[in-house]
Order: sequence, then structure tokens, then C-alpha cells
Amino acid sequence: MQRNIIIREKIKSFNKKITVSGDKSISIRWVLFSSLANGLSRAKNLLMSEDVLAAISAIKKLGIKTIINRKECRIYGKGINGYLYRKNLTINAKNSGTLGRLILGLLINSPYKIKIVGDKSLSKRDFKRVSDPLSKFGAKFKLKNNKRLPLEILGSNNLVPIKYLEKKGSAQCKSSIIFGGIRTDGTTIIKAKKSRNHTELLCKYLNLPIIVKTNKTFDEIKIKKAKSINVLNYNIPSDISSSAFFMVLTALSENSELTIKNVNINPSRTGIITILKKMGVIIFFKNQKSYKGEKIADIKIKSPKYLKSINCPSSLNSGAIDEFLVIFLVAAKAKGISYFKDLSELNQKESPRLKWGIFILKQLGVKTISTKDSLKIYGNPNLKVNKKIIIKNYLKDHRVFMTSVIAALSFGGNWSIYDKDSIKTSFPTFLKIINDLKK
Ligand code: S3P
Repeated sequence: MQRNIIIREKIKSFNKKITVSGDKSISIRWVLFSSLANGLSRAKNLLMSEDVLAAISAIKKLGIKTIINRKECRIYGKGINGYLYRKNLTINAKNSGTLGRLILGLLINSPYKIKIVGDKSLSKRDFKRVSDPLSKFGAKFKLKNNKRLPLEILGSNNLVPIKYLEKKGSAQCKSSIIFGGIRTDGTTIIKAKKSRNHTELLCKYLNLPIIVKTNKTFDEIKIKKAKSINVLNYNIPSDISSSAFFMVLTALSENSELTIKNVNINPSRTGIITILKKMGVIIFFKNQKSYKGEKIADIKIKSPKYLKSINCPSSLNSGAIDEFLVIFLVAAKAKGISYFKDLSELNQKESPRLKWGIFILKQLGVKTISTKDSLKIYGNPNLKVNKKIIIKNYLKDHRVFMTSVIAALSFGGNWSIYDKDSIKTSFPTFLKIINDLKK
């Protein structure tokens, strides 16, 4: 059953400090790296969401012991070749593209066939983008309709290193090949369009044999087989993608101020901040520090007097890839026409997000002109909504739900937003924080 929430009132001005939950990308990577480590790894503030719990279930099935308690999560790695499992294993990646794709890189040497399944949304997504390059290492794949889940992977004990050109700006593709490289004798060479680099930073922190040369648009990564992996104790910072909903809520509210504490501000993730600043939002970092190669800060946002439209350079796309739905809401209220382009990857997410973005804008009464990968949004600084709006049947995409909530609280109207449980995949405390801001 789809549970819904009703919102009938705009949010009033607020001035608050909040903490959002742990970074999803780093949480899943921590689980995977720790599952290969020599001994006990501990994490604090691991994101307790369905995607991360699916990652923990996956490594349990591979024979790795884990313990979760209120204070920390513990993973008892048995070394880089420590996975031990029965034949005919099935791993359920549920809603998580990151888990489903990254784990394949670690399974390219599996002696038995492993089946990967996912939920309805993940089963519509493209897995050929990782099975194609991973099969060049020597692993064998069988995919539904040659492209999707369920898939079967059978590893090889005769892997060869590959050269791989990643052109989409997908960190999931890049990371899956880095994991493949960790398992393979010789040097795997990746040329990858810029995207989030948490996997590379963790490899460096763990002293794995990786060399990364960064250029303006592409990075060159060389990775060799890892002999062993040290334990990884990690204090997971807060997620900038979860923070984005509250940044935008502040940007769209009047006379409001918000501090979001201890957020990961890795430059490959801060596209939202660059974009909001260009649109006139006042945002700055406080208490900046470095942590295991990542950057962390408190983010302070003040609502601006007015918002400017943006002609968004596509070089910012990858660094804001999960934030475009809420960014479109800012454009809806900006003065002038905003333009976003080269966004075909948006329709590859948990739901076809470019389509859903356009649908939400249409409900708000905002004029848009779109092509298959671009969007013009005709902003209206006086945008107010009075009608009844129903959002449902969006493939349980957590970000469609949260964006709709932010739209309802920012523009008014009488909203019924279905599939409230979708937030459990990435940000279970989202509605609680919304309620705290209302107090
Ligand atoms: C992620 C990479 C991005 C992003 C996803 C998380 C990751 O996907 O949309 O939410 O953790 O590597 P793509 O690599 O498909 O762009």
C-alpha cells in the first residue's frame, strides 16, 4: 500500500541548525571496502537506510559477519579473498544502483554463478553499462534482455586488466571498474569523465596501488591488484544530497536561515552549491576540515531577496546529478528563463527524473520547454499555488517524494504526496527534520 502525506500549508520563516543523516555513497563504499579488510572495521554515523542495509545483507551472504548497534556498525573482514558462500547465491540490491553496480566489480573472480536482483525500479535500470566493461576482465554475464536485472555473474580465475573509457560521468561505472582492477593482476587503466571520487579517495587512504591524475574534464586512474586491505574505521559525514532539500527549502523561504552541520563537501559533490550561489542564494562554509581525504564543513544558507535564473554549464551536471529535481524548483521561482542541458543521465535514475521534474513543474503551473536531455524553465518570482496536486506512481523514487514535499512547503497548494516510505532508501529522518523546522 502506498502511504501518503498531505501538505496544505507553506512553511513559516525559520532559523535553525540541523544535522542530516550519513552520506549514502560513502556508507555503501565503507561496507564494501570493510568486507575485504583484514579484521574488524568500525563506522560511526553509518546511514541506516534500506540501500545501506541491503549492502550489509549482501556482504553477510558473502560470508562476512557484521554487527549493528546504536553506537556503531562493525564489519569483521576476512581479507581480500575472504568471501565464502554457497552455490546459487542470490544478492538483492533492492533499490540501490550503487550497491548493484559496485559489488559486481568485487565478484569478477567468483567461482560460482551469483544472481543479482533488485526492486521494480532497479530492475528497469541499465546494467550493461557495467557488465560490458567488467566482461572484458574475463567475467561472464547473463542479463535480462541483455541489459537489466536480474543478472547472473560468473567470475574467472584468469582475469586480465582492462583499459576503460567512462564517458557518462558515472561514479558507479568508474567505481565498479576500480573494484575490478583491485582484483586483477596487472594495471587497469581508466579514463573517466569527472564524477564523485569517494572510491579513489578511499583507495588512497587505504594505501592501495592507485594513481589518479586529474585533468579538467577527465581523470586518469591506474589501479593494480591489491594484496590486502587494512581495516577502515570511519566517522561518516552527513550527506550533501540529503542536505540539498533543506538548502533549497531555505532558498525558497522568506527571512530564513539554516545551518547544516558536518556535511561532506567533497568538490565532486558541491555542484548544488555552485548552482545556488550563481542563482543568488547566500551560502558559505564554516568549520571546514579534512577527513581521510574528504572535506567536511557546516553549511550556512540564508534566503535571498530574489533569485536569478541560470544557464547551467553542463560541467556542473555530474557534481549535482542527484540534486536537479530540487534545483528545478529554485529555477521555478527565479526571475527569467533557466536552461539545463546534457541531462540524459537524469532519466537513468531511480525514476526517469527529467520527466518527473517536468511533471512537478507543470503541476506548479510553471512553463517549461524540454527536449530529451534539456530543459528550459520559465521562472516566476511570485509563484503561488492554490490547487490540489497529487503525486503518485513514480516508481518509489525517494527524491521525487522529497522534492514534492519541498515544493508543497515552498509554494503552497493542497498536496497529497504518495509513497512516503520511499524515503527509507536514502533518508529515513527526512520528515522528522521537516517537522523540527516547522516547530
Ligand atoms: C552514486 C553515483 C551517482 C548517483 C548515485 C550515487 C555513487 O550515480 O546518482 O545516487 O555513489 O557512486 P551514477 O554513477 O549512475 O551517475
